[in-house]
Amino acid sequence: MITSSSPRAQRGMSTVESAIAVAVGAIGMVLGIVLLVQYATSSYTSRDSRNETSMSHDAIMARLKPVGEIGMYDPNAPQPIAAKPVAIAAAAPSANKAEATFKGVCSACHGAGVMGAPKFGDKAAWGPRIAKGLDVLYVSAIKGKNAMPAKGGNPTLADDDIKAAVQYMVNAAK
Ligand code: HEC
Repeated sequence: MITSSSPRAQRGMSTVESAIAVAVGAIGMVLGIVLLVQYATSSYTSRDSRNETSMSHDAIMARLKPVGEIGMYDPNAPQPIAAKPVAIAAAAPSANKAEATFKGVCSACHGAGVMGAPKFGDKAAWGPRIAKGLDVLYVSAIKGKNAMPAKGGNPTLADDDIKAAVQYMVNAAK
């Protein structure tokens, strides 16, 4: 029986013994790596991706779908039902346009309230002006007033766009 006090343990491992130990260690390491690689790759292959809905042909095509599609459309073809609610679609752009006009032109002064311009959403600044009535404000905005340039300095804007932008600012300050 080998105990820690045996002469063999005391003299340490022989060259042959340590060579065997290194060889066993090396084999163990290689085996470990092989098992790890198998484990890593099997986690993909063992899962049957063909049956997964996210990997279905349609789902993949939907993910790969281009942002825009070019097609030939027959304007006389019957329209899909989804295209019907025209009334809602027509109402939205004018509100968006007023906001766009404000953001693109009017906010330069009215956003922060520079040069004495009544600031957007500032009830105290807008109150007395709103009291004059919308028509007066339209005229000021279209023709200009003191430091307020005609049409906010953008003469290409239609009167109706200016009016919409005025309404937009007035609504925000009510
Ligand atoms: C260059 C700066 C500037 C821009 C851009 C600008 N405004 Fe003004 N606006 C002013 C100033 C300054 C006043 C205050 C004028 C005053 O009462 O003396 C004012 C006042 C107004 C008033 C109140 C007028 C009144 O009679 O009390 C309205 C309405 C108005 N602006 C609308 C607009 C609209 C709509 C736009 C965008 C299309 C716009 N403004 C762009 C500077 C600007």
